[in-house]
Amino acid sequence: MAVQSVGVVGAGQMGNGIAHVFAVAGFDVLLNDISQESLDKAVSLIDRNIERQVSRGKLTPEEKTAAMRRIRTTLKLADLGACDLVIESATEREAVKQAIFEDLLPHLKPETILSSNTSSISITRLASRTDRPEKFMGFHFMNPVPVMQLVELIRGIATDEETYRTLCEVVERLGKTSASSEDFPAFIVNRILMPMINEAVYTLYEGVGNVKSIDESMKLGANHPMGPLELADFIGLDTCLAIMNVLHEGLADTKYRPCPLLTKYVEAGWLGRKAGRGFYDYRGETPVPTR
Ligand code: CAA
Repeated sequence: MAVQSVGVVGAGQMGNGIAHVFAVAGFDVLLNDISQESLDKAVSLIDRNIERQVSRGKLTPEEKTAAMRRIRTTLKLADLGACDLVIESATEREAVKQAIFEDLLPHLKPETILSSNTSSISITRLASRTDRPEKFMGFHFMNPVPVMQLVELIRGIATDEETYRTLCEVVERLGKTSASSEDFPAFIVNRILMPMINEAVYTLYEGVGNVKSIDESMKLGANHPMGPLELADFIGLDTCLAIMNVLHEGLADTKYRPCPLLTKYVEAGWLGRKAGRGFYDYRGETPVPTR
Protein backbone atom coordinates (compact mmCIF):
# COMPACT_ATOMS: atom_id res chain seq x y z
CA MET A 1 0.00 0.00 0.00
CA ALA A 2 1.34 3.46 -0.90
CA VAL A 3 1.01 5.90 1.95
CA GLN A 4 0.37 9.53 0.99
CA SER A 5 -1.76 11.08 3.73
CA VAL A 6 -0.70 10.89 7.35
CA GLY A 7 -2.68 11.82 10.45
CA VAL A 8 -0.75 12.76 13.58
CA VAL A 9 -2.61 12.73 16.91
CA GLY A 10 -1.00 15.03 19.47
CA ALA A 11 0.87 18.23 18.59
CA GLY A 12 3.36 18.14 21.45
CA GLN A 13 7.13 17.73 21.37
CA MET A 14 7.07 14.50 19.35
CA GLY A 15 3.91 15.14 17.30
CA ASN A 16 5.16 18.40 15.85
CA GLY A 17 8.51 16.85 14.94
CA ILE A 18 6.73 13.94 13.24
CA ALA A 19 4.47 16.33 11.28
CA HIS A 20 7.59 18.31 10.30
CA VAL A 21 9.53 15.36 8.82
CA PHE A 22 6.53 13.92 6.97
CA ALA A 23 5.68 17.29 5.40
CA VAL A 24 9.29 17.86 4.31
CA ALA A 25 9.34 14.35 2.77
CA GLY A 26 6.26 15.16 0.64
CA PHE A 27 3.44 13.52 2.60
CA ASP A 28 0.14 15.32 3.25
CA VAL A 29 -0.12 15.83 6.99
CA LEU A 30 -3.19 16.35 9.15
CA LEU A 31 -2.21 17.31 12.70
CA ASN A 32 -4.76 16.87 15.49
CA ASP A 33 -4.85 18.04 19.10
CA ILE A 34 -7.52 18.86 21.67
CA SER A 35 -6.56 22.53 21.92
CA GLN A 36 -6.27 25.12 19.17
CA GLU A 37 -3.51 26.78 21.14
CA SER A 38 -1.37 23.61 20.99
CA LEU A 39 -1.98 23.33 17.24
CA ASP A 40 -1.01 26.96 16.63
CA LYS A 41 2.09 26.57 18.81
CA ALA A 42 3.08 23.40 16.93
CA VAL A 43 2.72 25.01 13.50
CA SER A 44 4.83 28.02 14.47
CA LEU A 45 7.47 25.70 15.98
CA ILE A 46 7.55 23.62 12.80
CA ASP A 47 7.94 26.83 10.80
CA ARG A 48 10.87 27.86 12.98
CA ASN A 49 12.53 24.44 12.83
CA ILE A 50 12.19 24.18 9.04
CA GLU A 51 13.60 27.71 8.81
CA ARG A 52 16.69 26.43 10.69
CA GLN A 53 17.14 23.86 7.95
CA VAL A 54 16.78 26.57 5.29
CA SER A 55 19.33 28.83 6.99
CA ARG A 56 21.80 25.91 7.11
CA GLY A 57 21.29 25.25 3.39
CA LYS A 58 19.60 21.87 3.95
CA LEU A 59 16.32 22.98 2.35
CA THR A 60 15.43 25.76 -0.12
CA PRO A 61 12.85 28.45 0.77
CA GLU A 62 10.57 26.92 -1.93
CA GLU A 63 10.82 23.50 -0.27
CA LYS A 64 9.91 25.12 3.04
CA THR A 65 6.83 26.81 1.54
CA ALA A 66 5.72 23.53 -0.05
CA ALA A 67 6.23 21.60 3.21
CA MET A 68 4.28 24.15 5.28
CA ARG A 69 1.43 24.00 2.73
CA ARG A 70 1.20 20.23 3.20
CA ILE A 71 0.39 20.61 6.91
CA ARG A 72 -3.24 21.06 7.92
CA THR A 73 -4.59 21.03 11.46
CA THR A 74 -7.86 19.89 13.02
CA LEU A 75 -9.47 19.68 16.43
CA LYS A 76 -11.68 16.81 15.24
CA LEU A 77 -10.22 13.33 15.52
CA ALA A 78 -12.84 12.11 13.03
CA ASP A 79 -11.14 14.15 10.27
CA LEU A 80 -8.20 11.73 10.41
CA GLY A 81 -10.47 8.91 9.21
CA ALA A 82 -9.47 9.26 5.57
CA CYS A 83 -5.69 9.14 6.17
CA ASP A 84 -3.62 6.18 4.91
CA LEU A 85 -1.57 6.13 8.09
CA VAL A 86 -2.34 7.47 11.56
CA ILE A 87 0.41 8.01 14.14
CA GLU A 88 -0.78 8.45 17.70
CA SER A 89 1.67 10.66 19.55
CA ALA A 90 -0.19 11.69 22.69
CA THR A 91 0.98 11.60 26.32
CA GLU A 92 2.73 8.41 27.42
CA ARG A 93 -0.31 7.17 29.37
CA GLU A 94 -2.05 4.00 28.28
CA ALA A 95 -5.56 5.19 29.23
CA VAL A 96 -5.13 8.34 27.12
CA LYS A 97 -3.91 6.38 24.10
CA GLN A 98 -6.70 3.85 24.42
CA ALA A 99 -9.38 6.57 24.62
CA ILE A 100 -7.96 8.14 21.44
CA PHE A 101 -8.10 4.83 19.55
CA GLU A 102 -11.68 4.22 20.72
CA ASP A 103 -12.78 7.64 19.43
CA LEU A 104 -10.86 7.28 16.18
CA LEU A 105 -11.72 3.70 15.13
CA PRO A 106 -15.32 4.27 13.94
CA HIS A 107 -14.05 6.90 11.45
CA LEU A 108 -11.10 5.00 9.94
CA LYS A 109 -11.21 3.50 6.47
CA PRO A 110 -10.54 -0.26 6.61
CA GLU A 111 -7.11 -0.09 4.97
CA THR A 112 -5.66 2.61 7.25
CA ILE A 113 -2.54 1.58 9.14
CA LEU A 114 -2.74 2.58 12.78
CA SER A 115 0.44 3.19 14.74
CA SER A 116 1.64 4.54 18.05
CA ASN A 117 4.75 6.54 18.83
CA THR A 118 4.71 5.03 22.32
CA SER A 119 8.18 4.77 23.79
CA SER A 120 7.42 1.81 26.02
CA ILE A 121 3.83 0.52 26.14
CA SER A 122 3.02 -2.96 24.77
CA ILE A 123 2.07 -2.76 21.09
CA THR A 124 0.32 -6.12 21.28
CA ARG A 125 -1.93 -4.87 24.09
CA LEU A 126 -2.72 -1.54 22.40
CA ALA A 127 -3.42 -3.39 19.12
CA SER A 128 -5.67 -5.99 20.75
CA ARG A 129 -8.15 -3.28 21.71
CA THR A 130 -8.55 -2.09 18.13
CA ASP A 131 -10.43 -3.58 15.18
CA ARG A 132 -7.17 -4.04 13.20
CA PRO A 133 -4.37 -5.67 15.24
CA GLU A 134 -2.83 -6.91 11.97
CA LYS A 135 -2.58 -3.31 10.73
CA PHE A 136 -1.22 -1.90 13.98
CA MET A 137 2.43 -1.15 14.74
CA GLY A 138 4.79 0.70 17.03
CA PHE A 139 6.39 3.60 15.12
CA HIS A 140 8.85 5.16 17.53
CA PHE A 141 10.67 8.38 16.65
CA MET A 142 13.53 9.91 18.65
CA ASN A 143 13.72 13.47 19.91
CA PRO A 144 14.48 15.87 18.20
CA VAL A 145 12.67 14.12 15.36
CA PRO A 146 14.07 16.27 12.50
CA VAL A 147 17.64 15.52 13.61
CA MET A 148 17.65 11.92 14.86
CA GLN A 149 18.24 9.31 12.19
CA LEU A 150 16.56 6.33 13.86
CA VAL A 151 12.97 5.11 13.85
CA GLU A 152 12.18 1.98 15.87
CA LEU A 153 9.61 -0.32 14.27
CA ILE A 154 7.79 -2.63 16.65
CA ARG A 155 5.52 -5.41 15.47
CA GLY A 156 2.82 -6.64 17.82
CA ILE A 157 2.12 -10.37 17.90
CA ALA A 158 -0.60 -9.96 15.22
CA THR A 159 1.04 -7.35 12.92
CA ASP A 160 1.12 -8.63 9.34
CA GLU A 161 4.09 -8.57 6.97
CA GLU A 162 2.50 -6.05 4.58
CA THR A 163 2.03 -3.48 7.34
CA TYR A 164 5.63 -3.95 8.46
CA ARG A 165 6.97 -3.61 4.91
CA THR A 166 4.84 -0.53 4.26
CA LEU A 167 6.24 1.23 7.33
CA CYS A 168 9.83 0.21 6.42
CA GLU A 169 9.26 1.97 3.07
CA VAL A 170 7.76 5.03 4.77
CA VAL A 171 10.87 5.32 6.97
CA GLU A 172 13.05 5.16 3.83
CA ARG A 173 10.99 7.91 2.19
CA LEU A 174 11.61 10.04 5.29
CA GLY A 175 15.34 9.57 4.68
CA LYS A 176 15.68 7.85 8.06
CA THR A 177 16.85 4.39 9.14
CA SER A 178 14.64 1.83 10.85
CA ALA A 179 15.61 -0.73 13.46
CA SER A 180 13.21 -3.54 14.30
CA SER A 181 12.50 -4.34 17.90
CA GLU A 182 10.48 -7.15 19.39
CA ASP A 183 7.52 -6.03 21.48
CA PHE A 184 8.99 -6.11 25.00
CA PRO A 185 8.86 -3.27 27.55
CA ALA A 186 10.55 -0.06 26.29
CA PHE A 187 11.84 -1.81 23.13
CA ILE A 188 15.57 -1.27 22.40
CA VAL A 189 16.58 2.40 22.76
CA ASN A 190 14.74 3.10 25.99
CA ARG A 191 15.52 -0.33 27.47
CA ILE A 192 19.15 0.74 27.42
CA LEU A 193 18.94 4.55 27.65
CA MET A 194 16.47 4.94 30.55
CA PRO A 195 18.29 2.71 33.06
CA MET A 196 21.40 4.83 32.29
CA ILE A 197 19.48 8.06 32.95
CA ASN A 198 17.92 6.53 36.10
CA GLU A 199 21.40 5.49 37.28
CA ALA A 200 22.60 9.06 36.72
CA VAL A 201 19.76 10.25 38.99
CA TYR A 202 20.81 7.66 41.62
CA THR A 203 24.39 8.96 41.30
CA LEU A 204 23.03 12.44 42.09
CA TYR A 205 20.68 11.14 44.85
CA GLU A 206 23.51 9.32 46.60
CA GLY A 207 25.78 12.36 46.38
CA VAL A 208 28.43 10.68 44.24
CA GLY A 209 28.42 13.73 41.99
CA ASN A 210 26.44 16.92 41.42
CA VAL A 211 24.46 17.76 38.28
CA LYS A 212 27.43 19.46 36.60
CA SER A 213 30.01 16.76 37.41
CA ILE A 214 27.69 13.93 36.31
CA ASP A 215 26.85 15.57 32.99
CA GLU A 216 30.42 16.65 32.28
CA SER A 217 31.70 13.18 33.10
CA MET A 218 29.46 11.53 30.54
CA LYS A 219 29.97 14.21 27.88
CA LEU A 220 33.75 14.35 28.14
CA GLY A 221 34.36 10.83 29.42
CA ALA A 222 32.00 8.86 27.21
CA ASN A 223 31.53 11.29 24.30
CA HIS A 224 27.78 11.62 24.75
CA PRO A 225 26.41 14.75 23.01
CA MET A 226 24.41 15.63 26.15
CA GLY A 227 24.93 14.59 29.76
CA PRO A 228 22.31 12.13 31.12
CA LEU A 229 20.59 14.72 33.34
CA GLU A 230 20.51 17.32 30.57
CA LEU A 231 19.09 14.62 28.30
CA ALA A 232 16.48 13.66 30.92
CA ASP A 233 15.36 17.31 31.06
CA PHE A 234 15.24 17.36 27.26
CA ILE A 235 13.08 14.20 27.05
CA GLY A 236 10.87 15.25 30.01
CA LEU A 237 11.19 13.79 33.51
CA ASP A 238 7.56 12.62 33.48
CA THR A 239 8.27 10.58 30.34
CA CYS A 240 11.48 9.16 31.87
CA LEU A 241 9.57 8.13 35.01
CA ALA A 242 6.72 6.61 33.00
CA ILE A 243 9.21 4.50 31.01
CA MET A 244 11.04 3.34 34.16
CA ASN A 245 7.67 2.29 35.63
CA VAL A 246 6.87 0.29 32.49
CA LEU A 247 10.27 -1.45 32.72
CA HIS A 248 9.87 -2.07 36.47
CA GLU A 249 6.35 -3.47 36.19
CA GLY A 250 6.77 -5.21 32.83
CA LEU A 251 10.01 -7.02 33.64
CA ALA A 252 9.39 -7.39 37.40
CA ASP A 253 13.05 -6.82 38.20
CA THR A 254 14.16 -4.45 40.99
CA LYS A 255 17.10 -3.27 38.89
CA TYR A 256 14.59 -1.05 37.06
CA ARG A 257 13.17 0.68 40.15
CA PRO A 258 12.79 4.41 39.49
CA CYS A 259 15.06 6.60 41.61
CA PRO A 260 13.03 8.35 44.39
CA LEU A 261 14.68 11.64 43.40
CA LEU A 262 13.28 11.31 39.87
CA THR A 263 9.82 10.75 41.37
CA LYS A 264 10.27 13.81 43.60
CA TYR A 265 11.16 16.09 40.67
CA VAL A 266 8.08 14.88 38.80
CA GLU A 267 5.90 15.42 41.88
CA ALA A 268 7.24 18.99 42.11
CA GLY A 269 6.22 19.60 38.50
CA TRP A 270 9.91 20.11 37.65
CA LEU A 271 9.54 18.14 34.45
CA GLY A 272 12.58 19.47 32.59
CA ARG A 273 12.92 21.97 29.76
CA LYS A 274 9.24 22.09 28.85
CA ALA A 275 8.37 23.16 32.43
CA GLY A 276 11.23 25.68 32.70
CA ARG A 277 12.86 23.60 35.45
CA GLY A 278 14.19 20.10 36.00
CA PHE A 279 17.72 19.08 36.88
CA TYR A 280 18.53 22.53 35.49
CA ASP A 281 16.65 25.81 35.89
CA TYR A 282 15.97 27.21 32.40
CA ARG A 283 14.25 30.41 33.41
CA GLY A 284 17.35 32.60 33.11
CA GLU A 285 19.79 33.28 30.26
CA THR A 286 21.68 30.00 30.70
CA PRO A 287 20.60 26.76 32.40
CA VAL A 288 21.63 26.60 36.09
CA PRO A 289 21.97 23.21 37.86
CA THR A 290 19.37 22.74 40.61
CA ARG A 291 21.78 20.58 42.71
N1 CAA B 1 14.52 20.85 14.08
C1 CAA B 1 15.38 20.95 13.07
N2 CAA B 1 16.73 20.97 13.22
C2 CAA B 1 17.19 20.91 14.50
C3 CAA B 1 16.35 20.81 15.62
C4 CAA B 1 14.96 20.77 15.36
N3 CAA B 1 14.09 20.65 16.38
N4 CAA B 1 17.13 20.77 16.73
C5 CAA B 1 18.40 20.83 16.33
N5 CAA B 1 18.45 20.92 14.98
C6 CAA B 1 19.63 20.91 14.12
C7 CAA B 1 20.42 22.18 14.17
O1 CAA B 1 19.93 23.11 13.24
C8 CAA B 1 21.81 21.68 13.81
O2 CAA B 1 21.91 21.49 12.39
P1 CAA B 1 23.36 21.42 11.60
O3 CAA B 1 23.98 20.12 12.02
O4 CAA B 1 22.95 21.45 10.19
O5 CAA B 1 24.13 22.59 12.07
C9 CAA B 1 21.88 20.32 14.45
O6 CAA B 1 20.54 19.92 14.65
C10 CAA B 1 22.59 20.36 15.78
O7 CAA B 1 21.95 21.33 16.59
P2 CAA B 1 22.69 22.41 17.47
O8 CAA B 1 23.99 22.83 16.84
O9 CAA B 1 21.71 23.48 17.82
O10 CAA B 1 22.95 21.72 18.83
P3 CAA B 1 23.89 20.51 19.23
O11 CAA B 1 25.04 20.34 18.33
O12 CAA B 1 24.10 20.73 20.67
O13 CAA B 1 22.96 19.21 19.01
C11 CAA B 1 21.28 17.67 19.59
C12 CAA B 1 21.69 19.13 19.54
C13 CAA B 1 21.18 17.12 18.18
C14 CAA B 1 19.93 17.63 20.27
C15 CAA B 1 22.37 16.87 20.38
O14 CAA B 1 22.64 17.47 21.61
C16 CAA B 1 21.99 15.43 20.62
O15 CAA B 1 22.14 14.58 19.76
N6 CAA B 1 21.53 15.12 21.85
C17 CAA B 1 21.07 13.79 22.22
C18 CAA B 1 19.68 13.57 21.73
C19 CAA B 1 19.17 12.21 22.05
O16 CAA B 1 19.82 11.36 22.63
N7 CAA B 1 17.93 11.97 21.67
C20 CAA B 1 17.26 10.72 21.93
C21 CAA B 1 16.43 10.88 23.13
S1 CAA B 1 15.63 9.38 23.52
C22 CAA B 1 14.22 9.42 22.68
O17 CAA B 1 13.86 10.35 22.02
C23 CAA B 1 13.40 8.23 22.84
C24 CAA B 1 12.31 8.33 23.81
O18 CAA B 1 11.32 7.67 23.62
C25 CAA B 1 12.41 9.11 25.06
